[in-house]
Amino acid sequence: MKVPPEYHGREQSFLKHRFLTEYLRSWAHKLGSRARSGPQRLWYVDVFAGPWSSADAELRDTSIYIGLQALEEAAQTWRDTEGVNIKPGAIFVEKDRRAFARLQDFLRQRQGIVETHPFMGEFGHHVDGIQRLIGSDPAFVFVDPTGFKGAQMQFIAPLMKRRHRDVLVNVMFNHVNRWKDDPRQFLREQMRAFFGLEDSDLPVGLEEPELLRLYRRQLKLTCDIEWAADIGVPHPTIDRTWFRLVVGGKHPKVLEVFRDAERKVMGIEAAVVREEARVRSAAQPSLFSAEETAGAQEQRYTRQRDEDLDRVRTMLRERLGDGELTWQQIWPVLLEDLHLTLRELSRACFSAYKAGELLVSPTPGPKRRTLLEADLISLAVRDP
Ligand SMILES: C[S@@+](CC[C@H](N)C(=O)[O-])C[C@H]1O[C@@H](n2cnc3c(N)ncnc32)[C@H](O)[C@@H]1O
Repeated sequence: MKVPPEYHGREQSFLKHRFLTEYLRSWAHKLGSRARSGPQRLWYVDVFAGPWSSADAELRDTSIYIGLQALEEAAQTWRDTEGVNIKPGAIFVEKDRRAFARLQDFLRQRQGIVETHPFMGEFGHHVDGIQRLIGSDPAFVFVDPTGFKGAQMQFIAPLMKRRHRDVLVNVMFNHVNRWKDDPRQFLREQMRAFFGLEDSDLPVGLEEPELLRLYRRQLKLTCDIEWAADIGVPHPTIDRTWFRLVVGGKHPKVLEVFRDAERKVMGIEAAVVREEARVRSAAQPSLFSAEETAGAQEQRYTRQRDEDLDRVRTMLRERLGDGELTWQQIWPVLLEDLHLTLRELSRACFSAYKAGELLVSPTPGPKRRTLLEADLISLAVRDP
């Protein structure tokens, strides 16, 4: 893999865009299946659209391009394979006049099947207009502010009320972390609004995991969504989180798609991207290619994944207590917290069954390696 030159110096944006591409492709493809029973409108809603820091004349290094492309690909695939009719639509909101003019020019010149609606101004001022356009159609909402201002949770909430709504929020962790404990009144208010806290202030001194746990909990409560998970996007050359991408949705499938995309981008591609960036910043050609040295690099994802595999059995015990649950009741709760794919989680739980720690009903056949949605699971030995 080679990082395109337009992303040099901002490789974290490349990872964000790779993640957006993977997630959005799967989302559009899955939701597209609804078009089997008649034409289906699918929306991409980019409420902090830019273009921003784009170094490509075609805007290929922007979420605008990526969103349009993902919808078009999904529509094309469904049309070619099953002859079904997806009608893609995209909404963009941009506050900056110059950026908005560039966005408009780009949309005017672009050929394609996506119906596009650019809105000039602040996201918060356009929530009703967006909701009127998307009605009850499936929509993917991307919230990617430059900091935390203007990305109030109460603006996201109305767009998430209907079924088939997913949201991806880029929590600018580096920025939030810098200002989260600042006592100035206007910053306290901005923090409360960003975290959707109505009656209480953001507690002081929260570390990264607690901050993100709070954001996810609030997103679920405020936006009436059932599932939320997050991943960290590191700075390209130093060992520090830059963004945290938080996904929220109504269906547990959201988590499966999210963790698969995490594995691909953060688990495989990120080490190579970061090594390339490190080599460039050291301004010395390495003796080894980025691919070769990536294996030897500190790998955040692998470390986290190994720790999480170790946590599976304890979490299962806590979840099962003294009762029994179906696999489909168990896995989403675990996958919200664990940086594993559903397949890895299922295999780890199946190993616990093979080791005699779990009971599974009906008893799996000899060739099975994973659990099935309707399997009933309980602890073989209960805690005294
Ligand atoms: C981080 S950039 C977006 C990058 C873009 N999503 C991408 O990945 O290519 C944030 C953009 O939001 C715009 N912006 C800032 N505050 C806004 C607000 N309240 N409503 C809408 N747009 C806003 C900025 O002008 C900037 O272009």
